[in-house]
Amino acid sequence: MTDIPSIQWFPGHMAKTRRLIKESLSLIDCVAEIIDARIPRSSRNPELDELCASKPRILLLNKYDMADENATNEWVNYYKSQGYMALAVDCKNGKGLNRFIPSVKELLSEKIEKLTEKGMGGKKLRVMIAGIPNVGKSTFINRMAGGKAVKVEDRPGVTRGRQWITLGSGIELMDTPGILWPKFEDPAVGETLAFTGAIKDDVIDIELLSSRLLEVLSKHYEKALRERYKLTGELPQDGAGLLNMIGRKRGFLISGGEVNTERASTVVLDEYRSGKLGRITLERP
Ligand code: G4P
Repeated sequence: MTDIPSIQWFPGHMAKTRRLIKESLSLIDCVAEIIDARIPRSSRNPELDELCASKPRILLLNKYDMADENATNEWVNYYKSQGYMALAVDCKNGKGLNRFIPSVKELLSEKIEKLTEKGMGGKKLRVMIAGIPNVGKSTFINRMAGGKAVKVEDRPGVTRGRQWITLGSGIELMDTPGILWPKFEDPAVGETLAFTGAIKDDVIDIELLSSRLLEVLSKHYEKALRERYKLTGELPQDGAGLLNMIGRKRGFLISGGEVNTERASTVVLDEYRSGKLGRITLERP
């Protein structure tokens, strides 16, 4: 395991976010938690379970356009088996989002029934969006708002007068997402988030990071690696060896014929993140 430095989040902001989410609970009927389908475990904050225990939850595995289709299906089934409602979506292109409103209604069917019995069937159902930074909360809200530009406040702990975005079919979204921090107690989580770029590279040793990414990729996506970098023969077991091999293939050399590993690292990370290696999921249920 590499030594990705732990990121220091501001405890004050975290406390504020917790308070904001708690304060909002009385206003909402369910929580839509957005996660990154490429890293469905590391992009969750387990604290949300505790904070929102009283509310039904729907999980949106976003960016499924970049994730491995089979793995996404496995994750959706896994989360369903854990009692969540789960949907794979691609907010960038709007795919899968037509299933959002029906799923919310299914999730809240008991509540809807009770309201109808009381003659309050017309009452709006309200949804809070939550998730760690960069999973696509603003993209989701803007998509669902139907292109009307919504300024989504992306700074943790900032509130404005709350507005509700009407989705039709009696459902409203809270305009301010609940922004939670990822959990860093587990260094593997920090590393996995760094692979996708969810943590800024300037706090990380990119040669170490790209080497670790190559190790993970060579385990699950050897074919994609071989194809992209035209690697033949036996592959080195270690990430540093793979990085060297790729750098040499690409002709990233410095004087003396050594590989420019820094340049190779940047290229590997950029190409993985921009999807040039194909649709990849780094975690399995
Ligand atoms: P946040 O509010 O949770 O912090 O996330 P935000 O919506 O800002 O999205 C973070 C990045 O993820 C954005 O890219 C956004 O376009 C991208 N994104 C969101 N949903 C999807 C998806 O389903 N598929 C793909 N491929 N990307 C998605 P960015 O590079 O920061 O901005 P831009 O390139 O869109 O300008």
